[in-house]
Amino acid sequence: MVEFALPKNSRIDKSAGKTHAAQAGAKRVRRFRIYRFDPSTGENPRVDTFELDMDRCGPMVLDALLKIKNEVDSSLSLRRSCREGICGSCAMNINGQNTLACTRSCEELGSGDISIYPLPHQPVVKDLVTDLTNFYAQYAAIKPWLQSRTPAPPDRERLQSKEDQEKIDRPSACILCACCSTSCPSYWWNSERYLGPAALLAAYRWIVDSRDESTGERLDALEDPFRLYRCHTIMNCAEACPKDLNPAKAIAEIKQMMAERQH
Ligand code: SF4
Ligand code: F3S
Ligand code: FES
Repeated sequence: MVEFALPKNSRIDKSAGKTHAAQAGAKRVRRFRIYRFDPSTGENPRVDTFELDMDRCGPMVLDALLKIKNEVDSSLSLRRSCREGICGSCAMNINGQNTLACTRSCEELGSGDISIYPLPHQPVVKDLVTDLTNFYAQYAAIKPWLQSRTPAPPDRERLQSKEDQEKIDRPSACILCACCSTSCPSYWWNSERYLGPAALLAAYRWIVDSRDESTGERLDALEDPFRLYRCHTIMNCAEACPKDLNPAKAIAEIKQMMAERQH
C-alpha cells in the first residue's frame, strides 16, 4: 500500500522544486507553479516552476498543463478527457480555488504566477491526480437510479410534467467533478462519515424525482448525525461548483423534508 500525502501539507519540500525557464526571446511569459508528488520515490512533495510563452500556448490552464506535459516534462500526471467541462476529470485547485482546468482561462487569473495543486484533502496518487474512491463510493451509496415498484406503461416511457422535470433538471447537470465536496471543511474532517455536497445533491435529485417511489427509504438512509447533518451551511460548495449548481440549497431542502415528515 502506498503511503499517500495530502496536498498543501507541511511536508512539501520547498527547496526541492525545479524551474524550467521559457525559451530566450519569449515575450509573454507566464509562470506555473505545480505541485509534484510521486509516492513511489519516497521523496517529499515539491513545487516545480514552469515558464511558458503564452504566445505559443492555448488560453486555458489545461492547455498550459498539456503543453508542459508534451514539451517540457512528460512525467507530469493529471486527468483530463473532454476538454470542455463535461467529464469532470480535470478538477484541481487553481490559485486556491477548486475548478476545472479546461474551462478556466489563464487570462482570467490575472497576471501573476498560477499555482496548481490537486483537489484538497484527498489522497494523492501522483502530482495532480487524487484518489476519489471514497467520493465515488459515497455517490453509489445514495443509490443513484430510479426505484419504482409500479411497472412502467407497456407502450411508452414513464412521463413527467414539465414542472416535475424542471425540479431535476439542474441537479442532473452535476458532472461529479468533486470540486464541491473537496472544498467543504465538514467533508475534509469527516469524509468517512459525512456524504458531502456532491452525493447529497445526487440524493436530492432522486428524492424529488416524481417517478421515484423510494422517497421515504431515501430519507431514512440520510437520517443520521453524520451522513446529512454534518453540513453546517458553510456554502463553499456552491461557490466552487463549475456548473453553477447549488448543493447547499439541495441539502437545506432535504433537511426541511426531514423536519416536515416528523410532524
Ligand atoms: Fe462538481 Fe458541481 Fe457536481 Fe459538485 S455539484 S460534483 S462541484 S458539478
Ligand atoms: Fe459544506 Fe456546502 Fe454544507 S460547503 S457545510 S456542504 S453548505
Ligand atoms: Fe473534462 Fe475538463 S477535461 S471537464
